Amino acid sequence: MAYVDRFAGTFRGLEARIPYLKELGITYLHLMPFFLAPEKESDGGYAVSSYRDTNPALGSMADLEHTAEVFEKNGVGLVADFVFNHTSDEHAWAKAAQKGQAEFQDYYWMFDDQADTLPWQANLRDIFPETRKGSFTWRPDVKKWVWTTFNSFQWDLNYRNPAVFAAMAGELTGLANRGISILRLDAVAFVWKQLGTNCENLPQAHTIIRAFQSVARLACPSLLFKSEAIVHPDDIAKYIDLRECQLSYNPLLMAELWEAAATKNASLLAHSMAKRHALSPGNAWINYVRCHDDIGWTFADEDAAELGINGYDHRQFLNRFYTGEFPGTFSRGVSFQYNPITGDRRICGSAASLAGLERARVEHLKDDLETAVKRLLLLYTVAYTAGGIPLLYLGDEVAVENWYAYEKDPAMASDSRWVHRPLWSDELAAQRHDGKTVAGRVFEALSLLARVRRENPVFGVQAVSVVPTPFPSVLAYAKELKGRRMTLVGNFADHPVSLDTDTTARVLAGKPGKDLLTGRAYPIDKKLDLAACGVVLVLS
Ligand code: GLC
Ligand code: GLC
Repeated sequence: MAYVDRFAGTFRGLEARIPYLKELGITYLHLMPFFLAPEKESDGGYAVSSYRDTNPALGSMADLEHTAEVFEKNGVGLVADFVFNHTSDEHAWAKAAQKGQAEFQDYYWMFDDQADTLPWQANLRDIFPETRKGSFTWRPDVKKWVWTTFNSFQWDLNYRNPAVFAAMAGELTGLANRGISILRLDAVAFVWKQLGTNCENLPQAHTIIRAFQSVARLACPSLLFKSEAIVHPDDIAKYIDLRECQLSYNPLLMAELWEAAATKNASLLAHSMAKRHALSPGNAWINYVRCHDDIGWTFADEDAAELGINGYDHRQFLNRFYTGEFPGTFSRGVSFQYNPITGDRRICGSAASLAGLERARVEHLKDDLETAVKRLLLLYTVAYTAGGIPLLYLGDEVAVENWYAYEKDPAMASDSRWVHRPLWSDELAAQRHDGKTVAGRVFEALSLLARVRRENPVFGVQAVSVVPTPFPSVLAYAKELKGRRMTLVGNFADHPVSLDTDTTARVLAGKPGKDLLTGRAYPIDKKLDLAACGVVLVLS
């Protein structure tokens, strides 16, 4: 996934990056929202002013269609956002509402009196508590309070009004006509509101998505939906259904990879994989390490409690660890949206900076740098092998560090997510085949992972079986297809670990094999040695 401007300047600039993407084995490219949006602040494009017009700085709709066609010929499907929970306050519908047209005021949630918003507000959470309090915004132009779950310029659509569904169904099929293969359904949890509830993950939200899915099946049946629900794992699972979203982000795997890296303990990760990774046929996870958003610690408190971990305290620890406050931390992350009432916050930072590369480089710690490179690759190796589609956040392939320049731009300064939205770097790209550089090592390793994935059909299997080991820092899982078995064994500790022969034989299910990444043989009657943050992918 990438920002068009930050990765390649324009749509047509993307075409020039195809050879680069091919080296990485990319077949699916999510372009961050490229629609017309307010000039000053647009929440990274998630405040859409027109689903039929592009941000002119990136090129025209015709350019996008051209690019989609060129990508299609090169075996790459394009993914675009369907931002259907809200529009920007500059969308034609919002402007008509501002002019007092009742028909369009009904497209949104508007209240004459603040008192009418209070019973709703009582149960809502603040998504961006550092930016503003509450979910409603006073608009002097219409003298009304408008429902704005995210920023005050993002107006929530009112799906109780059937005209909204019909209009948005038109935008959906319009996007399919542009050559988009997959729609990322943004903020699915919030689309239905019901007094007396927290207005997240309500049954009617599922009904709305099913209705959109039905439209797609009839009008553009090759279009797939991907759900973006960063919520409790039980709620995430409910959106994944052939009648709803075939694909879903896997925020649980993402958060628990970072949790395992911080604690040097893979128990919670292994526990959740065993408990929650399975999906019904035809659906798949989108497994990722980083994306354009913050990291929230979305593991289930019940899962943590099963391992004797207190969820609240653990999140406090993880936040201190990743913001760099915890003594001995390897990470240099940035705090996001601290909420003094709940004590909650989330974490920003590039994968490389969070994994320890930035600190080790700045503090000249040679051994730590080596471990940090291995840690970054360990996380990505899990994302590339756990069942589903792996997502590469562009910039991570050359281990790009935090981008602090955002602080100097007033449009970005108050949103620390920009720290991990890097600009394309000619310098790092030029190092990508130089194994003596960090960028080169990471680029080559990720390209190799993509190659072995493509060459071995066993990677296409969604289900994994987690193999318990007596070593808390070790994660082991396997998948099988037609007599072939792929076993991942990874060590989250910052010291080497050696599996005894009994454990080795059990982890490999008695089948000797070869590491797909190094070609090294792994017999079952020898110890299996793992470096600090080392990982092997044994094919038997
Ligand atoms: C999604 C996007 C996020 C945005 C929000 C509001 O969650 O990923 O970047 O802030 O929706 O549109
Ligand atoms: C919250 C929302 C998610 C959004 C994120 C942006 O976690 O649930 O949809 O992407 O905030 O920070």
